[in-house]
Amino acid sequence: MTGWRWGEAMLLLLLFLFFLADLDAQDLGSSDQQSLTKFVQSLSSNSTSLGFNSSKPVCQWPGVYCTGQRSGNQRIRALNFTGLGLNGSIPDGSIGMLTALKSLDLSNNFLTGGIPADFASLTSLSILLLSNNGFNGSLPSDLAGLTQLKTLDISHNKLESGGTSSAADSLRALQSLRVLNLSNNQFSSNNFPFLANCSTLQALDLSANSINGSFPPQILSCIHLRVLNLSKNSLSGEIPLQVGDLRLLQSLDLSENSFSGQLPPSLGTLRRLLSLSLASNNFSGNITSSVLSLQSLQTAVLRKLDLSSNLLIGSVFGTISSLHALEHLGLAKNSFTQELFPDLSAVANLTYLNLSSCGVLGPISSSVGSLTKMLQLDLSHNDLNGSIPSALSNMTLLLSLDLSWNNLSGNIPDQLGLLTFLNQLNLSHNNLSGSIPNSNQFETFGASSFEDNPFLCGIALNKTCSSSIMPSPSPDHPVRNLKSGIMHPGVDVVIGIVIALFLVFGGFVVKLLCFQTRRTKNLPLVDAWNYRMGPMSFESDPSTWATSVKDPGSIPVVMFEKPLLNLTFSDLLKATLNFHKDAQITEGGCGPVYMGMLSPGDIKIAVKVLFEGGPVNPIERAAQLEALGKVKHPNLVPLVGYSMVNEKRILIYEFMENGNLYHHLHELPEGTANPDDWTLDTWEHPADGETVGNGDGCLSWEARHQIALGVARALAFLHHGCSPHIVHCDVTASNVLLDSELKAHLADCGVAGLVLDSGRRSVTPIIGGTVGYVPPEYGQTWKATTRGDVYSFGVVLLELVTGRRPTGQYFHDSCGGHLVGWVRALIRENVGYKCLDPKLLTTKVEHEMLECLQIGYLCTAEHPSKRPTMQQVIGLLKDVRPSAGTSP
Ligand SMILES: *[C@@H]1O[C@H](CO)[C@@H](O)[C@H](O)[C@H]1NC(C)=O
Ligand SMILES: *[C@@H]1O[C@H](CO)[C@@H](O)[C@H](O)[C@H]1NC(C)=O
Ligand SMILES: *[C@@H]1O[C@H](CO)[C@@H](O)[C@H](O)[C@H]1NC(C)=O
Ligand SMILES: *[C@@H]1O[C@H](CO)[C@@H](O)[C@H](O)[C@H]1NC(C)=O
Ligand SMILES: *[C@@H]1O[C@H](CO)[C@@H](O)[C@H](O)[C@H]1NC(C)=O
Ligand SMILES: *[C@@H]1O[C@H](CO)[C@@H](O)[C@H](O)[C@H]1NC(C)=O
Ligand SMILES: *[C@@H]1O[C@H](CO)[C@@H](O)[C@H](O)[C@H]1NC(C)=O
Ligand SMILES: *[C@@H]1O[C@H](CO)[C@@H](O)[C@H](O)[C@H]1NC(C)=O
Ligand SMILES: *[C@@H]1O[C@H](CO)[C@@H](O)[C@H](O)[C@H]1NC(C)=O
Repeated sequence: MTGWRWGEAMLLLLLFLFFLADLDAQDLGSSDQQSLTKFVQSLSSNSTSLGFNSSKPVCQWPGVYCTGQRSGNQRIRALNFTGLGLNGSIPDGSIGMLTALKSLDLSNNFLTGGIPADFASLTSLSILLLSNNGFNGSLPSDLAGLTQLKTLDISHNKLESGGTSSAADSLRALQSLRVLNLSNNQFSSNNFPFLANCSTLQALDLSANSINGSFPPQILSCIHLRVLNLSKNSLSGEIPLQVGDLRLLQSLDLSENSFSGQLPPSLGTLRRLLSLSLASNNFSGNITSSVLSLQSLQTAVLRKLDLSSNLLIGSVFGTISSLHALEHLGLAKNSFTQELFPDLSAVANLTYLNLSSCGVLGPISSSVGSLTKMLQLDLSHNDLNGSIPSALSNMTLLLSLDLSWNNLSGNIPDQLGLLTFLNQLNLSHNNLSGSIPNSNQFETFGASSFEDNPFLCGIALNKTCSSSIMPSPSPDHPVRNLKSGIMHPGVDVVIGIVIALFLVFGGFVVKLLCFQTRRTKNLPLVDAWNYRMGPMSFESDPSTWATSVKDPGSIPVVMFEKPLLNLTFSDLLKATLNFHKDAQITEGGCGPVYMGMLSPGDIKIAVKVLFEGGPVNPIERAAQLEALGKVKHPNLVPLVGYSMVNEKRILIYEFMENGNLYHHLHELPEGTANPDDWTLDTWEHPADGETVGNGDGCLSWEARHQIALGVARALAFLHHGCSPHIVHCDVTASNVLLDSELKAHLADCGVAGLVLDSGRRSVTPIIGGTVGYVPPEYGQTWKATTRGDVYSFGVVLLELVTGRRPTGQYFHDSCGGHLVGWVRALIRENVGYKCLDPKLLTTKVEHEMLECLQIGYLCTAEHPSKRPTMQQVIGLLKDVRPSAGTSP
């Protein structure tokens, strides 16, 4: 190795690598580099945070794919910028210049304005996805160059047909299209010569536009169509017979239009049909002699049939039972012949059945017990009688059950309590009797689920079940006869008198009985953990994202302590009813929180969904959660696991039985966690001027002091016991959760840090800040600090001592309109005792409360440097009650 030095070798290698790297950058058509940089810079407020580093070749940016790595002719071949929050209109001379593009995905952004005319030069384009943006105007008039285009999805925009240069004209030239999705726009022209040659088209979606006139005849020449969706337009007239020529159709949706006339028999020739929806039109005629009677359709593997809300007559059930593969059947709101409830054992794959307003007679057949996959069952507005079959409890997955507006009688079978996923129930307007089952699920339904069943009783109806007035009739002896007047005359008079006497003398007893029952039962879990409105509130059903996750059984859930459970996202879906609204317990600071029960092991959990934020790299994203799982303290809510589902991160916490402190201090209306302390007096006694605390009598001073100490310990640990230290950012009474022994656990620890982008950790901005708890200096610095947490802790301490909310009309404007200003003003006037929670006076703890009030005063000092540290706070709190300081 003489004369050969490693240093030199390395230098040469480095130079070579630089040369190569440089070559890469040079090779890229420099216009591609410029065009894409121009695009990103004009549409993203912070392109660095998306990983678009302007000093790197664009080919190294995420979502950019280039051809010819070393060939000296590098171009951008594919671009996937879906869901990056790009905002604004696409500048000319940006994307339109990337002429080598084969695939362009800009869906799910906030792009506005027109689709640029220079898109016409993207002649290699095969896939163009622009859905879910705010594009408006008409399509570029000349797209004739896009001869390779196979997939065009511009759904969910504000595009319209335009005048002279109509959408029809620009689409006419597209020769190779397979998939065309124009749904959810404002296209109106019905005369839609949209493709000169549509023989290649396989999927066409024109739904949710404003297309009127008759069925567009041009579609009939698209003979390779597999999917056709014209729903939610204003189309009218009859369906042409030639629809039967579209022999490959698998899915046909014409719902929510004004089509009329008979169902064409040619529908029966569509042997591949899996899904047919003709709902909400004006179709008429006799169903028996129409489409369903056709032998061919019966052999089709039809999974979905929806004929609801039409004007159809005739008898329907005979044919239905031969469609064995049906999963979704909607026949509601037609004028079918009245028929007995059908035997459904042959259609056991049904998950959705709507027979509302179908003229169904007689008792519900116990064949419903074979529908074990059922999710939604609606039999309302019929003439069903007899009792509710207990076989319904076989539908173990049932989410929604509507039997309202019938003549059902007898008791509600106790077995329905086994339907643990049931979250919508309507049994109203029947003749049911007896008591409403007591099982957990039934407790969550209110009076509207049961109303107008005169002989039904139970807590939901605020009507006690007393045997003296309410003999629970057996099914063979239905009380319904009372209504029909078959009963002995006079008896209802007697009942009336008994009820009247009961009302006069028994009112007080009823009240006690109601509360008595409450005491012995757990509150519905949803109530137990109070709702809290955070900065993020999801208007739409938050569950939609969860149900659309593909292959949930393959997404692992990491459980730190119980890796052998081998949980997947499917288990979380099951535990949280698909993240259903009804399982949601709070909106949370950075995302909603759901409660759930994991089936292996019956572990109660709280599940928080972080919809966004954090580093882009999935390994970093997971690493943050792993690190958070290691932050453990007896006064923190333990993070027990997590799952990463697409761009969402799901945090799994131990469930805290007693909900949050805010709820206990300010919102418990009646029946409390410690019911023995409950008295009518405190409940009905309004505090001076304002109703404070609504009769909370359950948290003794000892308990409150312990809670304060617990929270202080948690914060001291985060501030001083952790490296790097953690600023909580959102210390509030709602974030203090109480376990079954009322021990305090601080929630949301470290979550504010999770939603930040990496590289910003040194300065924790204020994410969670809740009105009433935000320290005054945050208004100027926008920087969260440990002393900021001390201030927020001070507010919680003042809440514990005064029993008052952090803000409210009660506090005079001169005190800043909040608890802190009010307390500090009274302390300065030396009348601090006026602040103490009146409910705790006479318990000989005033001096301790006053001392804690002083600690709260210190913590909420205007100037951060005057506030004590959390370690000092622990010392001060222990001094107040030396005996209490020993337990953790
Ligand atoms: C953009 O994001 C980066 C990293 O996330 C950050 O350092 C930078 O300050 C941000 N710039 C602006 C203008 O917000
Ligand atoms: C951008 O890339 C340059 C060169 O690769 C690198 O030095 C710089 O740190 C990168 N900037 C960011 C914000 O990642
Ligand atoms: C773009 O990426 C997303 C996932 O990040 C993917 O679902 C989508 O299919 C991609 N688009 C194309 C056109 O490949
Ligand atoms: C897009 O940018 C405009 C102007 O900068 C802003 O007003 C708007 O809120 C932004 N929209 C979204 C969804 O970020
Ligand atoms: C598109 O919307 C913008 C405002 O968002 C408006 O200024 C413009 O005129 C619209 N263009 C058309 C063709 O409607
Ligand atoms: C419907 O057609 C069937 C068979 O053609 C016939 O028996 C029945 O009476 C018709 N129903 C009505 C309501 O017209
Ligand atoms: C019912 O569903 C199962 C599973 O999806 C399927 O294997 C079976 O063939 C279906 N039954 C009918 C009659 O289509
Ligand atoms: C309930 O379902 C089981 C199978 O899950 C079946 O054996 C039983 O017959 C069903 N009961 C009724 C009443 O249909
Ligand atoms: C329940 O009934 C009692 C006595 O009839 C009445 O005072 C009370 O207000 C009712 N409660 C509800 C929630 O309707």
